[in-house]
Amino acid sequence: MAKVLRFSDDFLWGTATASFQIEGGIDERGWCIWDDFCRWPGKVFQGDTGDVADDHYGRYREDVALMADLGMQAYRFSISWPRVLKSGVGEVNETGLVFYDRLVDELLEKGITPYVTLYHWDLPWELHRVGGWAARDVAYRFADYVQVVANQLGDRVTNWITHNEPWVVAFLGYWFGVHAPGWQDGGLALQAAHHVLLSHGLATPILRASNPEARVGITLNLSPVYPASDSEADRIAARRQDGFANRWFLDPVYKGSYPQDMWELAGPIAPRIMDGDMEIISRPLDFLGINYYTRSLVQANDQDPMGATNLHPEGEYTAMDWEVYPQGLTDLLVRVEQDYHPGDIYITENGCAYEDTLTPEGRVHDVKRTAYLQSHFAAAHDAISQGVPLKGYFVWSLMDNFEWAYGYSRRFGIVYVDFDTLQRYPKDSALFCKQVAQSNSVEA
Ligand code: GCO
Repeated sequence: MAKVLRFSDDFLWGTATASFQIEGGIDERGWCIWDDFCRWPGKVFQGDTGDVADDHYGRYREDVALMADLGMQAYRFSISWPRVLKSGVGEVNETGLVFYDRLVDELLEKGITPYVTLYHWDLPWELHRVGGWAARDVAYRFADYVQVVANQLGDRVTNWITHNEPWVVAFLGYWFGVHAPGWQDGGLALQAAHHVLLSHGLATPILRASNPEARVGITLNLSPVYPASDSEADRIAARRQDGFANRWFLDPVYKGSYPQDMWELAGPIAPRIMDGDMEIISRPLDFLGINYYTRSLVQANDQDPMGATNLHPEGEYTAMDWEVYPQGLTDLLVRVEQDYHPGDIYITENGCAYEDTLTPEGRVHDVKRTAYLQSHFAAAHDAISQGVPLKGYFVWSLMDNFEWAYGYSRRFGIVYVDFDTLQRYPKDSALFCKQVAQSNSVEA
C-alpha cells in the first residue's frame, strides 16, 4: 500500500504567477523593459509579447474563482511597477492601483491568502533609461514605489516578497543578455545584483511598518550543486558553482557579506559597495521563498571561465530540458536550513513545462506534470521530517503563460490556456493539486 504523507494543519497550498506573464492590459500601464525586449529580433520566441498574455487584467475574477474551485489556500502574484507608476516614479496611476485593490479583495472574499511579490522583472522603461538596476538610484526609486503599494494594500496584505530571483534579474538580464534588458557585462551585472539586494533591504522596513502583522521575505532561485565525482577538482568546481548560483545571494541576505572565495574570484568586477549597504541588505526577515526546478551536476573544466561544465546525466527531462530531480529539493532545503537558518521557508515556485494536448472534451491528461509535482511534494515532506520549517508550497504556475524568452511555447500551468480564445481548462494536474490541498497529504 502507498504510504500517505501528511502535512501539518497550517501548511499552505497555493499557486504562483507574475504580472508580465499573465496580465496583458498593456494600454493601462507604462512600458517596461520586457515590452522592449520582446521587440528585439531573435530575443523572444516568435516575437511573442506580453500585450495580451492571459488577459488576467480583464479576467481576474474568473481566475480567482478557478483557484477557489481548486481548493487553493494562497496565491502568490506580482505587482507590475509600471502599472502603479507608469514611468516608475512620480504620479500614481490610480486605475493600476485599483486593479490590485480589487484583486486582493476578490482573493480575501474567497478565503485565499495573498502573497505579494513587488518585483518580478517588469522594470519601468524610464528607469532603464537612467541605467536600470546598474544605477544605484533605482534601488531608492524601488523603495518609493514599495511605499505607494504598502500604503494602498498594507491594511489587507500581510505577506510580502520584495524580489523574485535576483540571480535571474542580474545575471540573465545584465550578464548573459538572454533576459531584458539584454546587457552583457559581468561588472554591471554584479553591480545590478548589489542594487537589487540593496533595494530589498530598503523596502523591508517600509513593508513592516504597513501593518503590525506584516511578514517580509525574499524569493531566491536556488539549485543544489553536486560534483560529478569525488575528485578534488570536481568538488572545487561544484563549490564555485554553488557560490555563483546560491551563496552570492544567500550570504549577503543572511550573513551580511559576500562569500569571500567568490569575491576574490570576481576581482576587478566585484561590485562597489557603500558604507552601511550590507547592514541594510541583511535586515532580519520573516521568511525565505525558494524557487526550485532542478539540480546542477558539475565537472571541473579548465577551459571554462567558471572552471566547471554542467553535465546532462541520463534521466527524465522536462520540456525546458531540465532534469527531474526531486531529491535535489530535499537536499537543498536541508542545506539552506543548516547553513542559514532563515526561519520559515516557503517553496514559492516549483513546477514543470511539458507539451500538453487539449482533448476534444477539454481535458489535459498531463501525467508527467502530475508525477513531477507528486514526487516534489513528497521530497518537501521528507525535508520537513528532517526538521526544515517549510510552511507552504506554491506551484508554478496557476496557468500557462508568457515564459520569457520562450514566449508562449512552454506551458507551466496546471490550468491550460488556449491562447486564441483565452479560455482556461484545468489539467489533470490541477485536480491532483486540489486533492492534495484538500487532504493536506500526498502519497509517497
Ligand atoms: C522564475 C520565474 C518564472 C518562470 C518559471 C519557469 O521565477 O524563474 O519566476 O517567471 O516562468 O521559473 O521558468
